[in-house]
Amino acid sequence: MFQIIILAAGKGTRMKSQTPKVLHTLCNKSMIHYIIDQSKKITSSIDIILAHKYEEVKKSIEKFNIRIHKQNLEKYPGTGGALKEIPLIEDKILILNGDMPLITTEEIQKFFDIDADIVMSIMKLNNPDGYGRVVIQNGNVKKIVEQKDANEEELKIPYVNAGVYMFKKEVLEKYIPLLNNNNAQKEYYLTDIIEMAVRNGLNVKALEVNEEDFKGINSKKDLAEAEKIMCNRIKDKWMKEGVIIRLPETVFIDAYSEFDGECEIESGCVIKKSKIINSKIKANSVIEEAVINNSEIGPMARIRPKSEIIDSKIGNFVEVKASKLNDVKAGHLSYLGDSEIDSGTNIGAGTITCNYDGKAKYKTKIGKNVFVGSDSQLIAPVVIEDDVIIAAGSTVNKDIKKGSLAISRAPLKIVKNFYYKFFGKK
Ligand code: UD1
Ligand code: CA
Repeated sequence: MFQIIILAAGKGTRMKSQTPKVLHTLCNKSMIHYIIDQSKKITSSIDIILAHKYEEVKKSIEKFNIRIHKQNLEKYPGTGGALKEIPLIEDKILILNGDMPLITTEEIQKFFDIDADIVMSIMKLNNPDGYGRVVIQNGNVKKIVEQKDANEEELKIPYVNAGVYMFKKEVLEKYIPLLNNNNAQKEYYLTDIIEMAVRNGLNVKALEVNEEDFKGINSKKDLAEAEKIMCNRIKDKWMKEGVIIRLPETVFIDAYSEFDGECEIESGCVIKKSKIINSKIKANSVIEEAVINNSEIGPMARIRPKSEIIDSKIGNFVEVKASKLNDVKAGHLSYLGDSEIDSGTNIGAGTITCNYDGKAKYKTKIGKNVFVGSDSQLIAPVVIEDDVIIAAGSTVNKDIKKGSLAISRAPLKIVKNFYYKFFGKK
């Protein structure tokens, strides 16, 4: 079996954020969750090393059931320091940086497939800024120099250390105790093992990898660039599965959304943690934690968490929250919150479920074949039974029995020629 050790203890200073680096998200899923998911497809022997904001990161990954360690950052700072007190269990051990969310199972597998004492990963970059440089002599790797320790010549080297390595267990056992912190950052660099191993004649192989899969996230700019790659992967996958996405570069689909049957997503939509089945989502709609089945949503609609919309049509500027709509039409300008609306019901333009009285939230229940006239306010808690007509402009603050008309309307008064008197013209 293989062992994977994920390094995620660093401060991530360059992110300039209160959020621990590895909890920053791409397409709504944190970096560290991507890495653990990919690792788990290869082995169940996984260790993760935390320190900075330990409790917060630990809480976010507890469900994965992997071994969690705390690095002693005072005593042993750095990527080499991270490994000082970690049990080395399996014969082949892969070290992954926690800030490389784009890595895939296929890429990880390559490291285990090569026979060597050490397999390291290198990338050739036009802009190597931020990475450790790989010094290569006569086609062989000699050492890795961190950017902060590099001289002018070394800074020009286009080959960088991608930050993933496979070590045979005995190699780590031998060299980790030999690491020191004589460098610009006063840290124990894992990368120093390479130079020592090369000098001692070990079989060190370099695997050339690409930035699409190995990009390290150190800044919010890196995060944005990686998110674009991740989001494209997600959209490509769904398009392959048969989803139509209009102008995909304008659409955001998160890592947790799913599509089934024939779906079409128009430009500018944002879809998070939702399940969309046989539905069309028109331009610039936002859908979050919802199930949309056999329905048409938008353009410019907002469907918020805990909503379930089945066989329905939701039009522009309609906001739905925590509501269950089944065979409902709500075409324009409405707020439907904490409600349950049954089949054949039409919600007129400007209808508002007044679900909040300033202290608590209440439910609105609307039965079958109800006609809710435009600009009605339904003051929850309220139950409207089947076959009810609510006249336009009504304020409904009582339950309404089956088959009734509800109308609340101040009588209209008409004053003849008032306009001319008021403005003094004829
Ligand atoms: C590291 C490599 C560099 C490589 C780059 C690739 C070292 C010394 N340098 O640099 O050669 O080009 O990755 O992305 O390894 N971490 C710990 N404990 C620590 C410090 C870091 O667990 O004490 C973790 C971080 O949380 C992070 C990962 O190790 O997930 C990499 O740390 P980071 O500080 O980003 O290293 P780089 O400077 O990018
Ligand atoms: Ca990094």
